[in-house]
Amino acid sequence: MSEEQSIPRPADAAPANHGGYSPEQFSEALGHIERWARTYLESLPDRPAGAQRGPGETLASLDPHPPAQGEGMAMWGRVGDEMRSTIEPGLMHWQSPAFFAYFPCSSSLPGVMGELASAVLNVNGMLWSTSPSATELEMRVLDWCAELFGLPEAFRFDAAGSSGGGCIQGTASEGALASLCAARKRKVDAGRERSGMCVYTSTQAHSSIIKAAMVAGLADGPDDRSRVRLIETDGGLAMSTHALREAIERDLDAGLTPCMVSTTQGTTSTGAFDPLPEIGEMLSMMPSSKRPWLHVDAAWAGVAAVCRQFRGVLAGVEHADSLCINPHKWLMTNFDCDLFWVKDRASLTGAMSITPDYLRNPQSDAGEVVDYRDWHVPLGRRMRALKLWWVLRYFGADGLRAHIEHHVRLAEQVEACIREEPRLRLAHERSLSLVCFAVVGEDERTKDLIDRINARGRVLLTRTRVPVEGVSRWVARVAIGASSVEAKHIEILIEELRSALDEVVQ
Ligand SMILES: Cc1ncc(COP(=O)(O)O)c(C=O)c1O
Repeated sequence: MSEEQSIPRPADAAPANHGGYSPEQFSEALGHIERWARTYLESLPDRPAGAQRGPGETLASLDPHPPAQGEGMAMWGRVGDEMRSTIEPGLMHWQSPAFFAYFPCSSSLPGVMGELASAVLNVNGMLWSTSPSATELEMRVLDWCAELFGLPEAFRFDAAGSSGGGCIQGTASEGALASLCAARKRKVDAGRERSGMCVYTSTQAHSSIIKAAMVAGLADGPDDRSRVRLIETDGGLAMSTHALREAIERDLDAGLTPCMVSTTQGTTSTGAFDPLPEIGEMLSMMPSSKRPWLHVDAAWAGVAAVCRQFRGVLAGVEHADSLCINPHKWLMTNFDCDLFWVKDRASLTGAMSITPDYLRNPQSDAGEVVDYRDWHVPLGRRMRALKLWWVLRYFGADGLRAHIEHHVRLAEQVEACIREEPRLRLAHERSLSLVCFAVVGEDERTKDLIDRINARGRVLLTRTRVPVEGVSRWVARVAIGASSVEAKHIEILIEELRSALDEVVQ
């Protein structure tokens, strides 16, 4: 018997040996995945939202070696059981209606279908010429979103005389890095030294701003403050315009270059809003040779601007040079989808564009088209616009508004419960669908409360540490945003809160 004959092979292994697949095979595989997905979705309301595995447990259940022979089509019959036994227990179930942790990572039927369709197409829209529809659909949905969120015309492709526009970045972190690169390029072009560039954001800003400075070479580590200025905040944790002005003036006096200011409209810990109209006004009074780039991080809260009554979340955005908003957080668009707009796209592409001969093509050479590879670090890019297009059409502006309003109403319910409960107090004012509270008395009680609630497994919350009335404290966060959350899930949350509270405060 030859060696080859001695190796047992699944009868239908052949299809695994090459990547092509027939339409029939696609349908068969999809049937299996559909059956698994259905049982998974059905299980969500009744399972703990938190992961049920400790470090290394999933790893230990996986074969340490890759398979020598492909399983072929027979694999699909096994994946449902494997997902249930091997993968699902080690997942945090972000789509669970009991998920109130972090910020949401919301999803929807059109979002899921858009991801699937994009995977089937698997086009690489790095250049306009490598898939014109991918680029032009993205341009159109970015303009649609600019309209939905009430952005100034300067951020749109289709506005007369506009030199702005938007693209989909993977994450807000990538948007922050792209902004910083564009901001620095503008200053370098104006003759400023790269070594003197400074970045300003508040002490409450997301870590992605400092990370952008680290990646761009402006900081040697998270604690390097030689060119990163963390501006103090007021009692409501919003950036102090006065302190920002002072920091900028100090740096100008020292011969340094204020390169970028990043405000946060809806901070990660408590949903605070920096005074963007005031900061924007202050910066616009500076001579353009000294004025830093203004980036606005509205990753979580920005989508609320779809509702007229919440348009204020983006007040002052007309002063911004760039802006990011993540529909993958709170607008039912599957991860990943960060919308990133710039007013002057040439300063962005000037910082990012490099054209080797193998990418040259007549349309790009003629400057007739948008090549999205020039808007971020990656060259290759998938067709993320499809899912956003379908989300916008499936729900329509009214449906999106109803979604945001529903979650804000649920958050009001949580807020009312906190206000009524003498053992709890709001740590900061509710911000849209985010409620932050603390247990009255000893600081550790808040941490203990959240740990106990999470250990029970019926709902999942997170905590943070922020100044409350000037003193650093543990603060519990309830972030409402899962697409399937309803009033009954808030009732469970409140039940859990009260009963854990009975254990923490006798
Ligand atoms: C205000 C804010 N900005 C930026 C980010 C980073 O988001 P991303 O994961 O898209 O980089 C977050 C994440 O929660 C955030 O809350």
